[in-house]
Amino acid sequence: MSSAAFGVKIVGAGSAVPDRVLTNADLEKILDTSNDWIVQRTGIHERRVVDQNIEGTFTLARDALRRALDDAKVQPSELDLVINASVTAEMRCPSNACRIASDLGAVPAGAFDLVAACSGFVYALNVADSLIRSGRHRTVGVIGCDAMSTAVDYEDRSVSILFGDAAGSVILQRDDERPGAGCIYQTMNADGSTWESLYMPERGHEIPEWDSANPIKIGCLRMNGREVYRFAVTKFREVIEDALTKTGLTVDDVSQFVCHQSNIRIINAAMEKLGLPEEKVHINIDRFGNSSAGSVGLCFDQLWQADKIRPGDAVVFVAFGGGLTWASSVWRV
Ligand code: UT7
Repeated sequence: MSSAAFGVKIVGAGSAVPDRVLTNADLEKILDTSNDWIVQRTGIHERRVVDQNIEGTFTLARDALRRALDDAKVQPSELDLVINASVTAEMRCPSNACRIASDLGAVPAGAFDLVAACSGFVYALNVADSLIRSGRHRTVGVIGCDAMSTAVDYEDRSVSILFGDAAGSVILQRDDERPGAGCIYQTMNADGSTWESLYMPERGHEIPEWDSANPIKIGCLRMNGREVYRFAVTKFREVIEDALTKTGLTVDDVSQFVCHQSNIRIINAAMEKLGLPEEKVHINIDRFGNSSAGSVGLCFDQLWQADKIRPGDAVVFVAFGGGLTWASSVWRV
């Protein structure tokens, strides 16, 4: 995909989740739902949620990046760019990336937030790899972070059972020794005509027809779960198939498929259709729920810390989400 004389290496990973656990039993107390329904339809048993008095996406994303820097033994001052993928940053301006870079001591690194919903971390990974390959950046901190609990209406059982809060981060660095290392194939796609399936309205007049009769809290996430499910169950498989076909890799060649933790049924459907073995698809949705842009980075960090990602491995990242967006990133680690 690139003829650059250098590659890109992942030199460290980190993640952060809030201490507070929200179990299905907790949700049973406030919603007309049941543990059985949630487990059967989503695979989720519990999720983490921030205490908004003391934490949020700024602290989660910052802590994940700090841990990734420590893991990489890279000083914050070595970063020349920070990309933070999120749809739940506390403020529209400044971006959380700016505040995080400053807080950790990475000034004057470039810093911006990237909005691609649950696809955000994979988008950010692709952008960072491309910028390093262009020769314009050398060390980039990539973060995916969402605190969906801050954007969920806990009276709405169709979304509140699904989402949790998390951040995952990696440090990418130019690799002068291995031109073949880094992202060997990537896709980033969107179809904005489907935006109504998953949206966070800021003004009443933006509420689409299908949702207009429903009780809606402005600022809270709205989702047509069935529509998104229908889209995702096919797209997820297609994106993985495309990544394998275009790179010429087989399932056997890939050490890990790092998948957005959307719903266990969506992941299982892709695994069955493509014959992906259990040991190659890390699942943590049971304990962390769907953490939007946080989920892929959190999965990767758990694999990385468990030594399940080794130099030379082929790793496929894949995600989809609001927009609707979808993305893949195939790495030779
Ligand atoms: O990551 C970003 C993208 N988001 C996703 O990937 C989410 C994709 N969608 C989904 O994961 C699923 O659509 C949900 C988990 C959100 C919902 O599961 P579903 O199997 O699609 O349920 P449904 O919306 O078709 O609803 C089935 C029934 C309905 O009752 P009726 O109409 O059949 O009587 C709902 O009212 O289940 C009911 N229901 C619930 N019952 C108990 C919906 N939510 C709940 C609930 N507890 N929390």
